[in-house]
Amino acid sequence: MYSLGIIALQGHCSTISLYKDDELVFALSEERLSRIKEDSNFPEFAIKACLDKFNLKMQDIDSISFAWNPWSSLWFYLLKNLKHTTFDFLFGKRINGKRSRVKKFLEMIFIRSYIKKTFGHCPKLSFKDHHTCHSLTSIFHSGFTDPLSLVIDGYGDRATISLYKLNGRHHQLLQETFFPDSLGLFYSMFTQFLGFTSDIDEYKFMGLSSYGEPSLVDKINQVISFDENNFVKLNLTYFTFQKSSNVFYSDKLIELLGDPKTYDFKQRTDLAKSVQVVFSQVILKIIKNIKQKYGQETQSICFSGGVFQNCVLNKDIRDSKIFKNVFFTPLCSDLGTAIGACLSERLSKGLSLKKLSHLYLGSSFSDTEIEKILKFFNLNYTTSENLTKDTAKILEQENIIGWFQGASELGYRALGARSILADPRKQEMKDKVNHKIKKRESFRPFAPATTNEFVHKFFEVSGQELGYMIETVDAKKEMANEIAAVVHVDSSSRVQVVSEQDNKIFYDLLLEFEKQTGVGVLLNTSFNIKDEPIVNSPQDALICFARANLDYLVMGRFIIPANSNNHFISRYQS
Ligand SMILES: [Fe+2]
Repeated sequence: MYSLGIIALQGHCSTISLYKDDELVFALSEERLSRIKEDSNFPEFAIKACLDKFNLKMQDIDSISFAWNPWSSLWFYLLKNLKHTTFDFLFGKRINGKRSRVKKFLEMIFIRSYIKKTFGHCPKLSFKDHHTCHSLTSIFHSGFTDPLSLVIDGYGDRATISLYKLNGRHHQLLQETFFPDSLGLFYSMFTQFLGFTSDIDEYKFMGLSSYGEPSLVDKINQVISFDENNFVKLNLTYFTFQKSSNVFYSDKLIELLGDPKTYDFKQRTDLAKSVQVVFSQVILKIIKNIKQKYGQETQSICFSGGVFQNCVLNKDIRDSKIFKNVFFTPLCSDLGTAIGACLSERLSKGLSLKKLSHLYLGSSFSDTEIEKILKFFNLNYTTSENLTKDTAKILEQENIIGWFQGASELGYRALGARSILADPRKQEMKDKVNHKIKKRESFRPFAPATTNEFVHKFFEVSGQELGYMIETVDAKKEMANEIAAVVHVDSSSRVQVVSEQDNKIFYDLLLEFEKQTGVGVLLNTSFNIKDEPIVNSPQDALICFARANLDYLVMGRFIIPANSNNHFISRYQS
């Protein structure tokens, strides 16, 4: 039995998942194939790639589940709020050319005929509640038995915050908060206030906060507050997202905080820090409130929804110890709901459900396919008898490499399948990768990848699972200098602990690098350049290798040096 899960048209990054019985066998975001970052179009390419990979036709798919219910959004955002709604709120094109609310609704309700026209057939299709999908993804990734599950995002199809409890097979909704009281939109509004792009650049805003002082906390507290009954209350006089499609803050906010266009670096970082502090404080109060109400029943809670991409917040939650067992899924953003949609369908039918295991669920290419492409582009390459040993040597000599191995990983983080890797021992490597390779802001940190054998040597960890770069931990003071390129200004690091079971070749590379240098850590960043999606195919990898000025590309068992492929590099750099 094949079930297809889809999040598209709504949300930020169209994604599909495929279940074969109770096994998640494939998941891929449309942006990886369309090469349009955060592509929210219908994921036609991803579905085609999925059907091709398993040699299926649409007629072989038993059900399609959408992780968004357009009828709920019609009621909650359009009809219920009609007397406050403006023309721009309904018909204005969303930021970055995304669809208006009305267009999204119309596309969703006609999706059956679109699928039928594109694939010649549309299986039984159902619309699932968006927050239910978020929640189920995190619950079935956590492995917890009967946990609470807190969902917080900008907004779903009906709510902005939802609390659930899993009782056996009963996924029970305990409490909801509705638009416009939204923590996600609060953070997005300040992201936009500092001149970044809301809905996309929140991670840059978070990165900036580490450099600042929380000097504006009192002022930010005028904008948002914790609410005993509603979880959160926004002072809407400072916001305009409830009326406008594109502008999220009012003139009153500029009166409160001054004109952000005149801010220097210190003012920008202090604002980011103050917003981050208040954001964490409100969410910690929500979690304490949940603990008081429901903490007798369980000691476990999992988190999902876009706000939990904020790894500074996640660290505050873990450090608070309000709940004994906490889990942050790396699939907390909308793309993870493609999996939750299938889980919701299976739950409703009384079918078996399994814990999610690894995230290497996307496109994969054999060495034969890769070599064919290398030959097509007339590239010089070598093969290696001991790939991890030779790659570790290349890294030890301060080369920056593209690393392309196995099936692509689902999500925004490179987990060692489509990664750029470098030696983390010198601070200058961070600047080199930021400026020369990624062409991005110098304040942006890089994450370390390590293994269970070495993580305790370099980082303050207390038994948490750190497989997905969704939480930060502190680097040990005495070791921070040893891995200077992957320790942020506030001593934190967004660590990935690579498991031998999930990604053996990357794990072996880390062991080999340790053998050669004494440091079992690598700088690991996504294999892309600024404003592009992570590479998916060998062709994408080769073009990025050229454009990013990488020294080597290690793809499958092939090592491709830049210095003997100048004909290719210069062509694609121009
Ligand atoms: Fe969401």
